[in-house]
Amino acid sequence: MANLNPYWMPFTANRAFKKAPRMLVSAKGHYYTDDTGRQLLDGFSGLWTSGVGHCHPKIVAAVQEQVAKLDYSMAFQMGHEKVFQLSEKVVQMANPNADPKGFTRVFFTNSGSESADTSLKIALAYHRARGEGQRTRLIGREKGYHGVNFGGMSVGGIVPNRKVFSAAMLPGVDHIRHTHSIPDMGYSKGQPTWGAHFADDLERLVTLHDASNIAALIVEPAQGSAGIIVPPIGYLQKLREICDKHGILLIFDEVITAFGRVGAAFGAQRFGVKPDMINMAKGLTNGVIPMGAVMVKEHIYDTLMNGPEHMIELFHGYTYSGHPIAAAAGLACMEIYEEEGTWAQVRSLEPKFEALIHSLKGEPNVIDIRNVGLMAGVELAPRAGEPGKRGFEVFLGAFNDGVVVRNSGDIIQFSPMFNSTHDELERIVETVRKQLRAIA
Ligand SMILES: Cc1ncc(COP(=O)(O)O)c(C=O)c1O
Repeated sequence: MANLNPYWMPFTANRAFKKAPRMLVSAKGHYYTDDTGRQLLDGFSGLWTSGVGHCHPKIVAAVQEQVAKLDYSMAFQMGHEKVFQLSEKVVQMANPNADPKGFTRVFFTNSGSESADTSLKIALAYHRARGEGQRTRLIGREKGYHGVNFGGMSVGGIVPNRKVFSAAMLPGVDHIRHTHSIPDMGYSKGQPTWGAHFADDLERLVTLHDASNIAALIVEPAQGSAGIIVPPIGYLQKLREICDKHGILLIFDEVITAFGRVGAAFGAQRFGVKPDMINMAKGLTNGVIPMGAVMVKEHIYDTLMNGPEHMIELFHGYTYSGHPIAAAAGLACMEIYEEEGTWAQVRSLEPKFEALIHSLKGEPNVIDIRNVGLMAGVELAPRAGEPGKRGFEVFLGAFNDGVVVRNSGDIIQFSPMFNSTHDELERIVETVRKQLRAIA
């Protein structure tokens, strides 16, 4: 066994882990194998990443071929074919009718956090190029998650992620209210019917700051990390209307919802609302190689294409933007989504998954259940004086029983594979049920 001390693990209870490590050694399809040779059913698709299954042969082959052919290509002032092909594919998925005013351009990053910060910077640059450089305020939402970099953290709204760093929040950021209320929408199946009025909170901030100072609103169309908060019917439409009325850019952070999780290529399609920018990562490469992106509508790109032609138009980018191996993985991934009919697969599993997950209603300590597509959250009442412990115990118990789910505090999160069998979905839910009954 390796020395576990030097590695400081991210978003992990390091001391507990190192006392009782959970070490994975390989993965195939829907299963991990741990260092004791045990098979674990992956009910979380990696970390929302690996919906078409681990080590998909097509992605493995694409990566192997690419690494032996062009391992790296200078990202600035140079190009390579695969990243252009991938951009075209992503744009086609978002803009199937090739609307010249629709999503037409893709800027690559290496993660969801970088996508968040990139989209916020593009929003500022866009308004400045339009002669409205005073539009600098950025609006996020309570309970929002946009990664851990300074921009994303500042517009994010998950308290523990902000608390310790509060002195370093970006200035000029505000938040609209989150949409969750158990008494009013508890146990909703799919989109709650109540709560569209929460969008009006954006008008409150417009009144407070004046629209002429606001650059963008960033929201996850369906919230993941805060514990699966599904947008009330009509809510996203209202946000779009208010943004349009006041010239505010609308950014959808689709790091979780892009590429299948909600039964469409993008949450924007599933929920029928077109933002101005879409952030993505995870499903862009099935998690195989880190890659993120920000896709923008033509007017944004077009506005920024100014100045002398030999000059860089946007002073932003990463050494690994559009990395050739990531691009090869991404291209293979897009082909898989098309060949395997991923969006339809997810839609066809959704009713079964919904029925199963809601069958946990009435189990000990369950206080709410929420779902859309193949994502779901089961919220537990916290144990007195020990918030998060009950959720952690369910996660550990399920792991010991051969199933991987995730807990975010006392919310158990589910994100099964896109081509799960009914038996696998049942096993995931029944394993969690057993833990709920076993844990006081
Ligand atoms: C909506 C959203 N945005 C941003 C991120 C951050 O992504 P990363 O961990 O790749 O930086 C996540 C990660 O889960 C996410 O769910």
